[in-house]
Amino acid sequence: MRMPTRTQVAIIGAGPSGLLLGQLLYKAGIEAVILERQTGDYVLSRIRAGVLEQVCIDLMDEAGVGDRMHREGLVHSGFDLLFNGERHRVDLSRLTGGSHVMVYGQTELTRDLMEARHAAGLPTVYQAHDVQVHDFDTDHPRVTYRTAEGQLHTLHCDFIAGCDGFHGVCRASVPRNAIQEFEKVYPFGWLGLLSDTPPVHDELIYINSPRGFALCSQRSKTRSRYYLQVPLTDRIEEWTDAAFWQELKLRLDEEAAAQLVTGPSIEKSIAPLRSFVTEPMRFGRLFLAGDAAHIVPPTGAKGLNLATTDVKYLSTALIEHYQEHSNAGINAYSARCLRRIWKAERFSWWFTSIMHRFPEDSTITAKLQHAELDYLMHSDAGLRTIAENYVGLPLDFAQPKA
Ligand code: APR
Ligand code: PHB
Repeated sequence: MRMPTRTQVAIIGAGPSGLLLGQLLYKAGIEAVILERQTGDYVLSRIRAGVLEQVCIDLMDEAGVGDRMHREGLVHSGFDLLFNGERHRVDLSRLTGGSHVMVYGQTELTRDLMEARHAAGLPTVYQAHDVQVHDFDTDHPRVTYRTAEGQLHTLHCDFIAGCDGFHGVCRASVPRNAIQEFEKVYPFGWLGLLSDTPPVHDELIYINSPRGFALCSQRSKTRSRYYLQVPLTDRIEEWTDAAFWQELKLRLDEEAAAQLVTGPSIEKSIAPLRSFVTEPMRFGRLFLAGDAAHIVPPTGAKGLNLATTDVKYLSTALIEHYQEHSNAGINAYSARCLRRIWKAERFSWWFTSIMHRFPEDSTITAKLQHAELDYLMHSDAGLRTIAENYVGLPLDFAQPKA
């Protein structure tokens, strides 16, 4: 491939944020080049959550990549909460006037976007090393990188989109006095296991048990994803599949424990939990989007959904810039995103806090958690609050009129 030397938008990172942005810009006739540190196969090997909000489903359609998602994704119109030994259903559709979520793995969504980009012949440089962003406080930003063969290249552009995840180079390149970071690290992790076994239930079950949180999720009718809250000191090698299944059963209710089908793991890993937000999200001609700007703990599966709505605001702003010669969207980008992000951060933090055991908890804490959950499950107002946050707030929620 001949390396491009000039583009309109240089996108750093080929995760869901970068790929979706590339696709939305392409649909609007705006050129972009994606620079990704890893190989495509490596990006697709990362197992992440898989619950899409309606806004995310709509964006996949808008990007022209929704066909397989609609064919293979599972529509879920509710989920269960298990606490104090009893299961309660949150009927998302009834409580939100017909909304639902779609169970479709992030890996599949990423694959669809990658294939669409490849089919359209759009430029992506994989294994781009030593990416550096320059002069984004001027009208002539540029990005330098080395190819897998070690050649140094420069990409001139109008804008840089930092879609390079939590450990990326873009946020790290912003002068420290121009950026504020808010962070909370939780004192436990999630041990996840993927297996080709039928899910224990046709909907998700979020579990608050005396032994800690657990989650029964799924990727399809034949592939399950389960999680256990574990101490951060646990090492993955110590968790045999047998130990995982045994512990999961102890956290389930009797009916689910009896129905659980176990099998060998395809993937098993421990992930830390973090709440993190960067303010602002734009620095001159550099924008941050997705995990580069914020992290939520996975309880409620907001990470991917937030990333895609950042990208919606960003693509809209860039389209306005090129097509209408207006910078209104660019100037509003950071505030718009953050107004939405903080609400999802709050929900994810609350859902994490109410469902997990914390090391400092005393005997009263579980009782208080149960009382709050019991109240919410028997109050229509409470149920609606959970449901409308779970299915995702509309894109224009609490946003000033354009
Ligand atoms: N140069 C080039 N690419 C980079 C660099 C770098 N210096 N640093 C990171 N990257 C790449 C990573 O290899 C990765 O492929 O940027 C990509 C970022 O992708 P993600 O981490 O998946 O972030 P994002 O696209 O914002 O997706 C957010 O991922 O972590 C989940 O919960 C999160 O579901 C949400 C989604
Ligand atoms: C997942 O399937 O990986 C998943 C689902 C729901 C969550 C978190 C993770 O809240």
